[in-house]
Amino acid sequence: MRIGVLGVGALTEAIVRGVQKSKSPYRWCLSPRSAFRVERLLSLPQVSVAADNQAVVDQCSTVIIGVRPNDLQALAAQIKLTPDHHLICVAAGVELKTLQALFYPAKVTRMMASIAAEYPGASVFFFPSDAALSTCFSNAGFGVQSFSTEAQFEASMLSVCVNAWWLDQIQALAQAFSDETGMSLVDAVELLARAQQESATLLKQRRSTAPSVLAREIGTPGTFTARGLYHLKERQAEKPWVDILSELLKELKSMP
Ligand SMILES: NC(=O)c1ccc[n+]([C@@H]2O[C@H](COP(=O)([O-])OP(=O)(O)OC[C@H]3O[C@@H](n4cnc5c(N)ncnc54)[C@H](OP(=O)(O)O)[C@@H]3O)[C@@H](O)[C@H]2O)c1
Repeated sequence: MRIGVLGVGALTEAIVRGVQKSKSPYRWCLSPRSAFRVERLLSLPQVSVAADNQAVVDQCSTVIIGVRPNDLQALAAQIKLTPDHHLICVAAGVELKTLQALFYPAKVTRMMASIAAEYPGASVFFFPSDAALSTCFSNAGFGVQSFSTEAQFEASMLSVCVNAWWLDQIQALAQAFSDETGMSLVDAVELLARAQQESATLLKQRRSTAPSVLAREIGTPGTFTARGLYHLKERQAEKPWVDILSELLKELKSMP
């Protein structure tokens, strides 16, 4: 299969790289804009660039749309599609029905991912669910999750946002480790990456146990962990996180 990309940006570059590194690579045909990214991707096997956006859709029936939301309308005006086209759109916060109207008569599926798509173990999310797409990405080693409602799918985008918020917290914690012990920032980040990996392992292996229960299994009474849990709870450390998440979810719900 040959997959087209309209809008070669940070996210679509990561997706192409991730799939090409896997045991199940595909052939790709890229739109020519964003020359420096296209140039980099052309060094990978099975990647080519088309003369223009219409040439991408002429050569590929499956096409990932990687432009930002504000560029969707201009892109739609540049291409002629048929009912045989399947567009996979990564634009955050743009409803399926809006995309279907913009890219009529093509079939449209919404997709969410993060720049971690470049590396093994990353996940992709789809709405509506699509068996062929799920197979294509799970063959390429991605974790795949689909949702029954579009609101739930939007939450997958916010999970990508949460990832960025965590990374910023890790920076602050690593800096504290480094300042207090003299270890290098790189070593401190490595330490915290291992800790995060262990949290993920616990969450996956003990799915039926609530995260807060797991936290208290680590933080048994009288431990340093328990002191930290109490300290953070007392200061409602989770509140700003929950507040911004609720605000963004409300905003997404009210989008046209
Ligand atoms: N980055 C992430 O981690 C991430 C995570 C989740 C979701 N997303 C979503 O993914 C989408 C893209 O984000 P991004 O960070 O990858 O953005 P980006 O790096 O700016 O990539 C978008 C690319 O599309 C190009 N483009 C715009 N109009 C085009 C057209 N008509 N034809 C061909 N190419 C066109 C842009 O070129 P110019 O620069 O020349 O305009 C740019 O290179 C956004 O909707 C975002 O919400 C991104």
